[in-house]
Amino acid sequence: MSRHNKNVPWWQKGIIYQVYLPSFMDSNGDGIGDLEGITQKLDYLNNGTRQSLLVDGLWITPFYPSPWADGGYDVSDYTDVDPLFGSLEIFDHLRMKSDKRGIHLIVDLVLNHTSSQHPWFLESRSSKMSQKRDWYIWQDAGPDAQPPSDHTSHFGGPAWAMDEVTGQYYYHKYLAEQPDLNLRNPEVRDAIFQIIRFWLDRGVYGSRFDVVQDMVKEHLKEIGLERCALTRDEMHEMFREVRIMFEQYKDRVMIAEVYPPNIHDWVQYFGTNLDEFHIPFNFLPNTTWSAQGLRSTVEEIERELPKGAWPNYVLGSHDIPRLATQYGPDQARLAAMFLLTLRGTPFLYYGDEIGMRNVDIPADRVRDVSGRDPERTPMQWDSSVNAGFTRGEPWLPISYDYQKVNVAKQAREPRSILSLYRNLIWFRKQHAALCLGDYSSLDVNNLDIFAYIRHSGRQKFLVALNFSGEENLVRFDSLKGSGYIVLSTELDRNGQVNFDNLILRPHEGCLIQMGQ
Ligand code: NOJ
Repeated sequence: MSRHNKNVPWWQKGIIYQVYLPSFMDSNGDGIGDLEGITQKLDYLNNGTRQSLLVDGLWITPFYPSPWADGGYDVSDYTDVDPLFGSLEIFDHLRMKSDKRGIHLIVDLVLNHTSSQHPWFLESRSSKMSQKRDWYIWQDAGPDAQPPSDHTSHFGGPAWAMDEVTGQYYYHKYLAEQPDLNLRNPEVRDAIFQIIRFWLDRGVYGSRFDVVQDMVKEHLKEIGLERCALTRDEMHEMFREVRIMFEQYKDRVMIAEVYPPNIHDWVQYFGTNLDEFHIPFNFLPNTTWSAQGLRSTVEEIERELPKGAWPNYVLGSHDIPRLATQYGPDQARLAAMFLLTLRGTPFLYYGDEIGMRNVDIPADRVRDVSGRDPERTPMQWDSSVNAGFTRGEPWLPISYDYQKVNVAKQAREPRSILSLYRNLIWFRKQHAALCLGDYSSLDVNNLDIFAYIRHSGRQKFLVALNFSGEENLVRFDSLKGSGYIVLSTELDRNGQVNFDNLILRPHEGCLIQMGQ
């Protein structure tokens, strides 16, 4: 890549990988993934060669002490590590080892709510006179002892729980075990700012802020709770302050978990002067998984993105079904090419690179309150017992297909989906056009094909993705001559191809170098 890319931040050039911690690698045989397990697998993530995923950023889901009512998103101490997952020393060791490989650690900060076991909440609930009473959102019952309003929680049922100790209700957007903080209270703000600083000082390169849009609580005004009703503007203002803190450190990245209804809403999270989040997650709002659906969203992103802002694409996560389940195993390969050839930081969810699928969970093994266990099952490392994930009893069942679908096997197979990911990533990193270059859509003769060009200087690539189960002859009327197929999603062909005569097989995508 050319020299002037030197000033581009790592997170723009790089790939970010999400580890769902309890399911990545268990180092001590208790059946639950842990921080030391991640350390053991750093070579897999990035050993500096194309035999690894060349990951630049590693987002680890919560590892803090937690009663685990919502997969660790109910934190009872923000500045420690749950013994299940390790210790602060083990975290520091992981960070040091990651740094050496150019892997930037990103922590998950859940600041909209705490666990109901957090000392702040225990104190808050102890009495109406508690000094921390106003750290949470308390309200008297409505008429007939009903909850103060009919707002509902994300997981169903009322967003209010009655606390017998003081006879008032408290607000919880998620579980009753996750009371919402009153982010309008300056003391609460100070406390969470200290937490953010704690992790920045500890050397993490960024933070993924949980449920940012739920911090806005304007609806609470309806019931006279102005003092807790954080407005949208105040939420933005708060993150502008956080950004100022981030700017005091080098190379840090602020990521927001947001589910905006559309792209117009999404861009607001960058901040009017690009002074809020570097990366508000883009889960492709309102998009159908089809050539035309994706094309129109990508084009809208390119159009609406504020000048100087950088796009990102997130296809998988611990909250949504696996790619290979949502789109089918063939389209999972296409998804890889789509994700890794677009302009913008790609996020990879662990296991998607080997095509892991959702796993049916027997009733007696269910752990999640909201049916998300199937996409959270243990990583499939090899064909040995428990897929090499643990020498104990895995906390969630291992997929029945692990002997076919695992890292060790796919690493040996030149046409596996893992090989596809590794090739795509390596190729992306070798070429400025793919990594940082411009994007433009291309018209083709067929509505099932999504095609675009990535270019930087004289370097140009054409990407053509066939979203149908049919073979298609593709013609690019605006292109003359021929190009060279450098990668097919099937990993079985290279070579010269004429732009008026490209045949794409069912679900096939091709990356074609132009001007060859
Ligand atoms: C978003 C997390 O991704 C999800 O797993 C969790 O349930 C909610 N936030 C609540 O913290």
